[in-house]
Amino acid sequence: MTKPATILVTGGAGYIGSQTIIELIKQTSYSVISVDNYSNSSEKTFDRIESITGKKIKNYEIDLCNKEEINHQLSGLTEIIGVIHFAAFKSVPESVADSLLYYHNNIASLVNILKFCKEKNIPNFIFSSSCSVYGNSDELPVTEKTVLPKAESPYAHTKQIGEDMVRAFSKSNSNFNSVLLRYFNPVGADQSALIGELPLGPPSSLVPIITRTAVGIIEQMQVHGSDYNTRDGSCIRDYIHVSDIASAHINALNYILDKKNKTNVSLFNLGTGKGITVLEAIHSFEKISGVKLNYKIGARRSGDVAAIYSDNHLAKQELKWEPKFNINEMMLTAWKWQLHLQEENK
Ligand code: NAD
Ligand code: WQD
Repeated sequence: MTKPATILVTGGAGYIGSQTIIELIKQTSYSVISVDNYSNSSEKTFDRIESITGKKIKNYEIDLCNKEEINHQLSGLTEIIGVIHFAAFKSVPESVADSLLYYHNNIASLVNILKFCKEKNIPNFIFSSSCSVYGNSDELPVTEKTVLPKAESPYAHTKQIGEDMVRAFSKSNSNFNSVLLRYFNPVGADQSALIGELPLGPPSSLVPIITRTAVGIIEQMQVHGSDYNTRDGSCIRDYIHVSDIASAHINALNYILDKKNKTNVSLFNLGTGKGITVLEAIHSFEKISGVKLNYKIGARRSGDVAAIYSDNHLAKQELKWEPKFNINEMMLTAWKWQLHLQEENK
């Protein structure tokens, strides 16, 4: 009996990787395997995926910076037809404090997985990029044609370099089809509330800080600045539901598998196209949860851009992708996930 075609997901135990595995299981008939060394996640993710989908996913606990280990554990797998590469470190402040950690982890792992694709003749590749590549853009909304400035942080630089590496590799391997996806601010959790964002360390991003403040893990949160030139003085971001991000990967995969792509490297912004201020996000949370949030207005956070949001027309047109969830639904699912964690930790 021939084995089913397989999609390899790197970083499958993480926030977006796990949600994408769920969508792969729900929306396709591919077999799915994961590679994750649990550097920012835990094996519990796979129990959560199983409780939602009924499927047990095999994870290879490999550091992708270790090519020998990749060869040793994965070279016998002959049925992989595509790779979705999520594995990376993602904290901007941590990357400023320890740049080499980020250059090493994010670049070496990408070199190794591309080498693996070359050696195994795996022709389809999706890369997780980020809106951080746009830095402090004067042009809003940012489009895929917006010229990228010098990166603002080592993390953003690893994403610019990563995109360039995938482009260069695709250029010299005409059978290799890649999609670069620039995510804006992924938030929210699965509708089941059984899986969601759960970094190993304390979160620095807005939505987990809101939900942790609401349950009292964080006593009081700060709004970082209210004197920006925006409609209420707080920063504007393009929050996008993690399930919409996950679904876009299925569309991107089908796009290259069905040979709909016009060139062998494609690039798409993944956002809702709508900017939301920090205060609007907080008010949305208060409305859907009924909880009055303990927050105060604080100083600006160093390195923050006042406003960034996407032009998402290209992804809509080419990938036939449409984000489904609004800010209230993003907040509601994040809140239900936090409540689930509270129950679990009782
Ligand atoms: P995450 O930290 O939850 O998931 C990343 C996973 O990769 C983790 O499970 C981690 O253990 C694993 N990993 C990291 N380095 C590895 C290595 N060397 N070998 C094997 N496994 C390794 O992060 P996420 O939010 O799911 O992000 C996924 C991708 O999306 C990343 O590339 C990130 O840079 C990018 N991205 C994330 C956001 C966001 O706000 N979450 C926004 C834009 C882009
Ligand atoms: C959002 C807004 C904060 C916490 C990060 C990465 C970027 C990309 C997306 C990976 C900002 C404000 C936050 C708090 C606050 N990720 N805030 N109080 O900085 O837009 O982008 O995620 O690729 O690279 O930098 O996201 O969630 O940290 O902040 O007021 O306690 O919330 O100042 O305006 P950010 P964030």
